[in-house]
Amino acid sequence: MADITVTMNGKQVGGPAGITILELAKQNGIDIPTLCYLEGLPPTGSCRVCVVEVEGSRTLVASCHTPISAGMIIQTHSPKVLEARRVIVELLLASHCGTCYMCEKANICELREVAVDLDVGVPRFPIRRRFYPIEDESPYITRDLSKCILCRKCIRACNEVAKKHVYAMGYRGFDSKVVVDFDEVLNKEVCRDCGICIPYCPTGALSNPQKSRKDKKGPPLVIKG
Ligand code: FES
Repeated sequence: MADITVTMNGKQVGGPAGITILELAKQNGIDIPTLCYLEGLPPTGSCRVCVVEVEGSRTLVASCHTPISAGMIIQTHSPKVLEARRVIVELLLASHCGTCYMCEKANICELREVAVDLDVGVPRFPIRRRFYPIEDESPYITRDLSKCILCRKCIRACNEVAKKHVYAMGYRGFDSKVVVDFDEVLNKEVCRDCGICIPYCPTGALSNPQKSRKDKKGPPLVIKG
């Protein structure tokens, strides 16, 4: 397939037709942050952290699902782009539970890493947190939806990688959440022993109970790929 040439951050770069701005940036050593992108699976464009500026476009575009086209002029780290990413991350943090010091992933989850890279501290927006009870009935997964940023990676890992279709999006607006069946409890009846979603979670919303429980004398958790 013929190469398409675009200008990215003032430099001419090329890639095959169909490739996205994010993929081309990666190929050229340009790091664009992502929170919902899963390499190898079609993008969902749900987090918007990967936005970039494309000359002639009225709005910033999500680089993970925008294919390159000939002559595009793209800015991946302009002041406008960085400010938009900061606002997006601040909004995520404004509804996040904020108990990072007690989280299994501490301050090293993907959300925190992106926030640090963007120099985001305390959100400027009113804090409106969602609190849900911790679900620890399953011997395979502990779920704390207060930390969920609705990136949908767990749903896609379960549906498209493990092909188990345990999770789905439920409710609307601020009440949106990842549900199990008709918003049932996550236990070993609905979710068996794969745990494939845990490493995909960009926060501490999903964790391995064997690590998080004080009693670590139980049998080791086997995660099947
Ligand atoms: S990574 Fe592109 S929208 Fe989330």
